[in-house]
Amino acid sequence: MEKFIVHGPCKLKGTVKISGAKNAAVAILPATLLAEGKCHLENVPDISDIRSYCKILEALGAKIEYLSKNEMIIDNTNVTSAIASSELTSKFRASYYLLGALLGRFNQVQISLPGGCNLGARPIDQHIKAFESLGATVEVRNGNVYASRKEPLHGNSIFLDVVSVGATMNAILAATLAKGNTVIENAAKEPHIVDLANFLNSMGAKIKGAGTDTIRITGVEKLRQVSSYSIIPDQIETGTFMVAAAATKGDVLIQNCIPKHMEPITAKLIEAGATVEELGDSIRVTMDQIPNSFTVKTMPYPGFPTDMQPQICILLTIASGTGMVIENIWESRFQYTDELTKMGADISAHGSTAIVKGVEKLYAAPVHSHDLRAGAAMMIAGLIAEGDTEVYDIHHILRGYEDIVEKFNKLGAHIEYVKEDDKHD
Ligand code: UD1
Repeated sequence: MEKFIVHGPCKLKGTVKISGAKNAAVAILPATLLAEGKCHLENVPDISDIRSYCKILEALGAKIEYLSKNEMIIDNTNVTSAIASSELTSKFRASYYLLGALLGRFNQVQISLPGGCNLGARPIDQHIKAFESLGATVEVRNGNVYASRKEPLHGNSIFLDVVSVGATMNAILAATLAKGNTVIENAAKEPHIVDLANFLNSMGAKIKGAGTDTIRITGVEKLRQVSSYSIIPDQIETGTFMVAAAATKGDVLIQNCIPKHMEPITAKLIEAGATVEELGDSIRVTMDQIPNSFTVKTMPYPGFPTDMQPQICILLTIASGTGMVIENIWESRFQYTDELTKMGADISAHGSTAIVKGVEKLYAAPVHSHDLRAGAAMMIAGLIAEGDTEVYDIHHILRGYEDIVEKFNKLGAHIEYVKEDDKHD
């Protein structure tokens, strides 16, 4: 069994460079299926979700040449299969982008129902609604999603009932090669949606309005190959380091990020008493006081991201006074609070609200990573706690954070990666 041992407490100091955005990359990789020829991608994060995605694409017939850890050329010329039903596909949520991308290219598509972090019910009804609006027939049975079309998809007006990142991206993917015009209304506005649209536009797609709630797509007949596209920096990785800097009362310069994407997190950290300086494509976070308590509500972008909710909660555990976390996106995103209680935090979570009374200190304990972002939160808790915090189920963390141990250790943390068997040597 793998685990991290975080030897706390520490103050993070120094410089960290942010990797490419996971949630952009997991849409852009399947988007390459729509192009004829090769796509050269840069700033691809080296994380397990991306390695899984590459395996899925290779199983479909893609040829992937790795130029470096973060750079690859994907050639989908010989992709002949549109069946992606495997253990790998069902393992993570973002495999649903294969549906939109493959439907743009093939008449019949089959993928396993997507898995992913256990954050509560994760329906795909809005994805299906979008595909059906464009003329596809979609069926879900025996753990698979089957989508088919008798003729090329046709543009249409799609009004999403809920603001969904995945459904917006899937609608964009399917509509790019559809005949005629598509309008997606009540679209999500996250930075990775803009990045997907920019990537597709760089191949000849005609997508306007990404980043607003109305996206207009004029279908094109084909997409050309792309000689070089660099994926945007990861908003959530940036936010994780920002919170870690503040929680440890540190001084960290976070490079290769987009400060504009960080505004909701920056605002909360300033409320907590941190100093946040924006310096071009870097952000410096310093903190020299006990955090002030605050209330945070998760919302679709540009609101406070749900994927930063567990991390920002760590600040509240050691804040002066009582704070509140309100989760508006996922119904089961407070499972991690039980782990923090083991470390001495005073949290009571019911339904969509957690009340957090600040305590003087957290103390080391063995804790589990319930999901990717909760795992990152456990690491931050370990950084501020007295003693050696053992963080288990770290495969969740490795899905989405490149070189997380190396990056924290370069900032002065002392974190070990341990394989349980190693201890018996
Ligand atoms: C993406 C992110 C995830 C993040 C989430 C919200 C990826 C790979 N994952 O997930 O990390 O937490 O955005 O920012 O990018 N919903 C429906 N029907 C649907 C689709 C969604 O009711 O068909 C609901 C969901 O239950 C949820 C809300 O809409 O309450 C938002 O979900 P959505 O934005 O789709 O999340 P994902 O794209 O799955």
